[in-house]
Order: sequence, then C-alpha cells, then structure tokens
Amino acid sequence: MPNDTLGRPLKDLRISVTDRCNFRCTYCMPLNEYSWIERGELLTYEEILRLAGLFVRLGVEKIRVTGGEPLVRRKLDVLIRGLASLEGIQDLSLTTNGALLAEQAEALRAAGLKRINLSLDTLDAAKFRRITQRGELSEVLKGLEAAERCGFDPIKINAVIERGVNEDEIVPLAEFARAHGLTLRYIEFMDVGNANQWRMEKVVGKKEILATLAARFPLREAHRADTSSPAVNYEFADGGGAFGVIASVTEPFCRDCDRARLTADGKLVACLVAQQGHDLKSLLRAGASDRELMEVIAGLWRQRADRYSEERLVALQSPSGYEPQRHAKMEMIVLGG
Ligand code: GTP
Ligand code: 5AD
Ligand code: SF4
Ligand code: SF4
Repeated sequence: MPNDTLGRPLKDLRISVTDRCNFRCTYCMPLNEYSWIERGELLTYEEILRLAGLFVRLGVEKIRVTGGEPLVRRKLDVLIRGLASLEGIQDLSLTTNGALLAEQAEALRAAGLKRINLSLDTLDAAKFRRITQRGELSEVLKGLEAAERCGFDPIKINAVIERGVNEDEIVPLAEFARAHGLTLRYIEFMDVGNANQWRMEKVVGKKEILATLAARFPLREAHRADTSSPAVNYEFADGGGAFGVIASVTEPFCRDCDRARLTADGKLVACLVAQQGHDLKSLLRAGASDRELMEVIAGLWRQRADRYSEERLVALQSPSGYEPQRHAKMEMIVLGG
C-alpha cells in the first residue's frame, strides 16, 4: 500500500454506521433537521465488513466505529462481531455518547469489543441538557457504569471544551476521571462542518486547559505511547492516572495523520475537514471485484494531500485571518469525528 503525498501511511479506519443521533450537541449538530442519509443508501453490515476487510489487507490496523451515534443503528453487536474477527486487525474501538450503552454494553463486550470512548462534557445535569439538547446525564452515567462492569478497558472520556459553555468543568471532570480510573481527554472545539457556528474565540486552547489543571493538580507530560492517536498525554504526578489533550486547533497533528473515514453511505473521506468524500458504494453495488476496490482505495490514498488543521493554524496566524464559513465542509455528525 502506497503512502500519501506527504509520506503518511494508511493505518486507521473510522467507520460511521449512521449519521443519526439521539442528541443534538451544540458543538456538533445543533439543527433539528438535516439532509439525513436515506435508509437504502446506508451500507449494509455485509458491505461494511467487505470494505473493512479490504482496508485491513491494505494495511489498516485500527478500526473505530462511530456515527452519528453508532448505538442507534440496530444490532450493532453483529457488526462488531464481524469486525473483531477480521484477521490482521490490532485494535477495535467504539465512540459513543453513552445514552444507549446501559442496554448494549454486555452484548458489545460479548461480541469482542474491548474498549470504548465516551463523550461527556459536563457533570451538571442541566448543563448536560443545554449542550446535548436531548440528552439525560443520568442515562449516560448508567451507560458508563455498565461499561465499567463489563470490563471495557480503557474507557476514555471525551470532553469538548467550549468557552462560555463548560470551561468551568475542566477540574470537576478531572476529579471524576481520577476517582473512576478513566482516561479523560480534553478536546479543543473544532470547526468541523459549519452548523456549529465555530469561532476561534470559543476555543479553549490546550495551554489554557493545562494551566487550569496545573493550578489544582501536579502534572507531568507523559511520553506519547501511540503517535497515531491525536491526544498528547499527561499524568497527574500524584498518581492520579493519565489524561490527554486533543489540540487540533492550536497544535495540529496532520503530519502524523494516518486516518481514513468511511461514511455510513460508503464514501471514503481523506480528512475530517474535507469538502467531500469518494463514493465506494456505487462501485461496490456495481459489482467491483476486491482487487478493483483495493486499487481505487490505494489510488485515492496515494493522491491524498489533506492537512486542513495545519493550514487553518497558518491562516489564523496570518494578518488576513481565517474565515471558517468560507470553507465548504462535511458535518461532524456525518463523519463521526
Ligand atoms: P483513540 O484511538 O482512543 O486515541 O481514539 P481517537 O481519539 O482517535 O478517537 P475519538 O473518536 O475518541 O476522537 C476524539 C477526538 O479526536 C474527536 O473530537 C475527534 O474528532 C478528534 N480526532 C480524531 N481523529 C482526528 C483527526 O484525524 N483529525 C482531527 N483534527 N481530529 C481528530
Ligand atoms: N470539535 C471537537 N470535537 C467534537 N466532537 C464532536 N463535534 C466536535 C467539535 N466540533 C467530538 C465528540 C465525540 C468525538 C467523536 O468528537 O464529542 O467525542
Ligand atoms: Fe453529540 Fe456525538 Fe450526536 Fe454529535 S454525534 S450530536 S457529538 S452525541
Ligand atoms: Fe488528519 Fe485532516 Fe485532522 Fe489534519 S485535519 S489530522 S489531515 S483529519
């Protein structure tokens, strides 16, 4: 499998199984209605497994299942079981909002899923409702408990920090994660899509997040166990465990980006901030052979030159500035992060 134009290999595949979600997080998809993918356009589990197998043959080692909210798609454990049994896959994980986890954690674990990333931006029920618009904090916490009981390890908590919304949650979330032995990752608010009305002033940068934490806990930077993970890792120096910061706005990591994304309707997307994807479903449904599909995927990867977050940083620092709305982008809810 060839590297892309910037010498980056393809190692990581993020598979979105639906663009639907039972939440409407203000930083992701604040709109009630959207041009959702039609049911018949969704890849079936058989189609996803076939494509995933081809990606693994092309060198992919890590697969993440995302959405929208992946647990709203029926019988997700069936897909997980298939993915877990792909030969050559070293890491299989799921990113979820947790609302349906209490009822599904056991089946997912039994299907071969070992780890989970759960989104949780606040521990205050009213604020949780304001951010997610439709979510119940207590349900998510029940989902988290179920995941702990079933032995998922690690369980990572994703917290998007947005100015004026939840920067006061930085310390409480750390206390919660420390008490529960969870790996917390603070995420800078990104301008993925245009529905979320991103502005730089709303970003709480990595430096500020660390300064807030350092005022409360002793910290030290930990070595980066996995350069293909977007998080920079830290430890609470008092033995309180590890946490991470995903700083795609202030410290972009495009040069190490080995991730491809597959949308629920079968488009291969080369970057989280891409304008469009490349349709694999039509080829698949027109009867393309494995070899043909692999050639198309390899060809697309060979041409890849995306490094949007690095370009955004250059623009942000330039005199003319950066205008997020001028760039057409796919929505986060379609890409699954
Ligand atoms: P781990 O393998 O557990 O480290 O997973 P992950 O952090 O890659 O996945 P997750 O779905 O938990 O994503 C956490 C945050 O990182 C989300 O806000 C993602 O949008 C963001 N993220 C993941 N990959 C990329 C990437 O390639 N580029 C950018 N800009 N952000 C990314
Ligand atoms: N910026 C940063 N992270 C985001 N997520 C969703 N929208 C954004 C955004 N605009 C996060 C979710 C989830 C992960 C897949 O992406 O919180 O944890
Ligand atoms: Fe929120 Fe995730 Fe749903 Fe987006 S996909 S609205 S981040 S729960
Ligand atoms: Fe990769 Fe695009 Fe994110 Fe850069 S902005 S790390 S190229 S997905």
